[in-house]
Amino acid sequence: MRRPIIAGNWKMNNTKAQTYALLGELVPLVADAEAEVVVCVPYTSIWAAGEAIKGTNIKLGAENVHWADKGAFTGEISADMLLEQGVEYVIIGHSERRQYFGETDETVNKRVTTALAKGLKPIVCVGETLEERENGKVEEVLVRQTEGAFKDVVAAELDNIVIAYEPVWAIGTGKTATAQDANDTIAIIRGTIAKLYGEKNAEERVRIQYGGSMNPKNAKELMAMPQIDGGLIGGASLKAVDFS
Ligand code: PGA
Repeated sequence: MRRPIIAGNWKMNNTKAQTYALLGELVPLVADAEAEVVVCVPYTSIWAAGEAIKGTNIKLGAENVHWADKGAFTGEISADMLLEQGVEYVIIGHSERRQYFGETDETVNKRVTTALAKGLKPIVCVGETLEERENGKVEEVLVRQTEGAFKDVVAAELDNIVIAYEPVWAIGTGKTATAQDANDTIAIIRGTIAKLYGEKNAEERVRIQYGGSMNPKNAKELMAMPQIDGGLIGGASLKAVDFS
């Protein structure tokens, strides 16, 4: 019903030359993947990545997008600029953006609604910090972030939006949520979507990934959980064999 989606989040890694090398290795390894496969790469690698995956089953993604069409926004990138390069998916609201670059629920929402209107598919990240988890705030935080991201998103757009549940304490730390815990927490997010758009839409149309130290050792167990529809992979996406 919900096709799994595995997306690499390269973050600030890989030059153009490294992009060609990594994708050259990856293309044959995932050629018969059942899951949808996406690589989200730095802006400077988008062109090279697009060339390297042309005619394959790998789809192209970016790591952010601005809400304005164009203008005086030094360092930002527009949806049209990404679309012109063949980008299909875009990560929005990653915890590193929220933590280090002042991203808020409101700016996440602006990026999400613009991306959807332009025809890009957002991968919206939500997730609690360790402090929020220890203070029993997981549900409160996830409901707030999810409702915030989906403000003004209409039901017709749900097939084009993916959520990534990424507990901040599990990102790049080697600590993973247990498969059961990730599953149960994702159920909270899906419940929030059900409240907004109805049970059927939440069950059938919105894919929710797990992200946070997902790797070749734990992927099978995580992917076996009924609520987990894929992964957003950081560190392990930088090695073709691990990612595949
Ligand atoms: P990680 O990163 O797999 O290195 O923990 C995941 C992410 O931040 O998307």
